[in-house]
Amino acid sequence: MTEVTKKSSKTLDDSMKITVTRNGPYIVTGGVPLTSEEICNDDEGYCRTWRQVKKYPVQEQYALCRCGNSKNKPFCDGTHAKNYFDGTEAGDHEPYRDSAGVIRGPALTLTDNEHLCVHARFCMRAGGIWNLVKQSDNPTAHDFAIEEACNCPSGRLVVHDNATGKVIEPEFEKSIVIVEYPPRGEHGPLWVRGGISVISVDGEPYEIRNRVTLCRCGRSENKPFCDGSHVIR
Ligand code: FES
Repeated sequence: MTEVTKKSSKTLDDSMKITVTRNGPYIVTGGVPLTSEEICNDDEGYCRTWRQVKKYPVQEQYALCRCGNSKNKPFCDGTHAKNYFDGTEAGDHEPYRDSAGVIRGPALTLTDNEHLCVHARFCMRAGGIWNLVKQSDNPTAHDFAIEEACNCPSGRLVVHDNATGKVIEPEFEKSIVIVEYPPRGEHGPLWVRGGISVISVDGEPYEIRNRVTLCRCGRSENKPFCDGSHVIR
């Protein structure tokens, strides 16, 4: 299941990258587009769609706040230094697939790496993606499962087509999205889309994935990745 099915072709730009700095911001280079998007609920209160609310002017290089205390969010204003921010990384360099569980259904297979959950909650609708995959010979359940997996910003959830063996992934331009969830007042992670390289402080790259979420609140125990600690419970 290594070949990837895309909904359309994607732009390849290897100059784009995100570098984690020691106890400081993310340095983004290569003119990565930056937007802000809100998670929108359906009529029953389930997370269902995304809505773009802001598009930032394109900059060749910029620094994004990682400590959560900048007064110029999403950009860094140097507050991390005054607050002695501890940005020590604990993120896994292992490939996603190595620690993902597998749930096999009749038409789809789900891989699920719980460690990456950011509580975006797209997976809870219509009985939950785990049940939908088990019923994936039903066309409605099949389509809902794909939709829920593709909306999962962290890529915790990935679906595979059993007939072809291919991964089903949404098509994204390389970009960064600031995630907001107004119904619960949650300010979510940086959603890194389209396969941008993220480089750790020691220069070691993390696995490049189509969907990755980086902490911007400073509270994750799995830095640089979001672990859902921003969620207000
Ligand atoms: S943004 Fe920091 S834990 Fe999610």
